[in-house]
Amino acid sequence: MFRGKSRIAAVALALMTLAACRQKMANQPRYDPYEPSNFFADGMSARPRIEGTVARGEISNNPFLDTGKINGQIGDGFPMAVTREVIDRGHSRFDIYCAQCHGRVGNGMGMIPARGYRRPPSFHTDKLRTAPTGHFFDVMTNGFGAMPPYRTMINPQDRWAIIAYIRALQLSQNANAADLTSEQRAQLDAPAATGEGHGAAAEGAHH
Ligand code: HEC
Repeated sequence: MFRGKSRIAAVALALMTLAACRQKMANQPRYDPYEPSNFFADGMSARPRIEGTVARGEISNNPFLDTGKINGQIGDGFPMAVTREVIDRGHSRFDIYCAQCHGRVGNGMGMIPARGYRRPPSFHTDKLRTAPTGHFFDVMTNGFGAMPPYRTMINPQDRWAIIAYIRALQLSQNANAADLTSEQRAQLDAPAATGEGHGAAAEGAHH
């Protein structure tokens, strides 16, 4: 009887010791994200970031990649290789972050302007076709007129991927048959090779 009791006591003691170990980390006072606090005058528990500080891993040491600028001037081209994966990534980001205003094909006919927001310009104008890639990066980073900035929502790599996709969209609306290889052109011509008009249509497409 007595031995039984002491065994229970020993087990209870062991459990308490284990619980104490757990307590140290998990149950210490702490704030949950966005939990209010009356310790700071602004009522928030989290402190704002000190101006000019940069989180580890946040910048790449490649100023063009991080800012779209080269020596302070808007740059052109891409800071990385534009692969199929990059364009696909840009496609999904564009559909999430841009298409609601700019439209899925970038013609400015998104749902938000249809409901009264300022209508964005089409990407299929000479002005935006010839605008350097760094301009698009800058618009996404800092906003442009009525368009808000997206730098806190879209990281620099994804901003570049979106630009690659915008370039693909621009090409899709402004392609020239002369840009194709002869095999691609043969493919393009093949389904039309049915009637009299084929020759003339192909001529027209070649400009
Ligand atoms: C909430 C709607 C909205 C969203 C979302 C939006 N834009 Fe815009 N965008 C606009 C409007 C409106 C303008 C025109 C602003 C003006 O002229 O005041 C504009 C202008 C632009 C321009 C043209 C700048 C120029 O030189 O004329 C570019 C490029 C652009 N946006 C890119 C993007 C990209 C890329 C995204 C996605 C990351 C995006 N926008 C998301 C509304 C939006």
